[in-house]
Amino acid sequence: MKDLINGKVFLIGAGPGDPELLTLRALKLLQSADVVVFDRLVSAEIMALIPSKTRRISVGKAASNHSVPQEKINQLLVELAQEGLTVARLKGGDPLIFGRGGEEAECLRQAGIEVGFVPGITAAQGAACSAGLPLTQRGYATGVRYVTGHRAADQPLDLDWSSLADEQTTLVVYMGAANIAVIARQLIAHGMPSDLPVMAIAAATTPRERRITSTLAGIAIATALKAVESPVLFVIGHVVSIYDDLPVGIAPTGLVQEIMRSIEVVHV
Ligand SMILES: C[S@@+](CC[C@H](N)C(=O)[O-])C[C@H]1O[C@@H](n2cnc3c(N)ncnc32)[C@H](O)[C@@H]1O
Repeated sequence: MKDLINGKVFLIGAGPGDPELLTLRALKLLQSADVVVFDRLVSAEIMALIPSKTRRISVGKAASNHSVPQEKINQLLVELAQEGLTVARLKGGDPLIFGRGGEEAECLRQAGIEVGFVPGITAAQGAACSAGLPLTQRGYATGVRYVTGHRAADQPLDLDWSSLADEQTTLVVYMGAANIAVIARQLIAHGMPSDLPVMAIAAATTPRERRITSTLAGIAIATALKAVESPVLFVIGHVVSIYDDLPVGIAPTGLVQEIMRSIEVVHV
């Protein structure tokens, strides 16, 4: 029986999907934890590595459908640890990149619970590297930025567009599916070339992976026409031209520009 001594919570990155991209430390912890609290983005293949006797709790979240509110997840983690359990809090990618892992850690620490961290391969790294896309190739980019394409339901997508519109920096947009038309339009309006190459990568490193290349002006239409499903991220920048399959000669047409102008911001 567990005593009154608090257990410990490990915030563990599951990587982008492929179970072979899990770290050895993550695997060990998943195989020894008393309970695994997991997100929607954790692949079935990774869940299959957890012993069948281990308790699992899904707190799956989709962009506009938080099945368990964040406060409840925080509270759940605290309560499980207070039962003296070793808790594996399994999150897609890296637990501290756009995953609210920092908030969970803060809440646990405030409750006096010890927290451990296990890095994971974030979606940008997993998606780009497995596509052979060097995000910081010399001569193409001097840096890379990860940005969110999504804000809470009541907040507009008020990114610092002029700072983001830098051709020398590769942009990787997480959670941008619903707002990609607005993102592209704003970047163009703030000086990015409309023919800058863009790649959308969906379900990276899983058997369902899809890659779509287009231009900044064309990416919203291209992903809509091809019915790209989540999770998807967008790599924006000259490095995309290194990718072998980049279709040449895509230029924004008057029609594409017209359609983009007519698309309104989607708040999700
Ligand atoms: C809430 S964020 C979580 C990010 C995660 N913590 C990470 O480090 O990758 C979810 C977003 O990550 C991106 N994402 C996660 N897994 C992905 C994958 N396998 N392929 C493409 N994008 C992915 C998508 O942009 C998705 O909307």
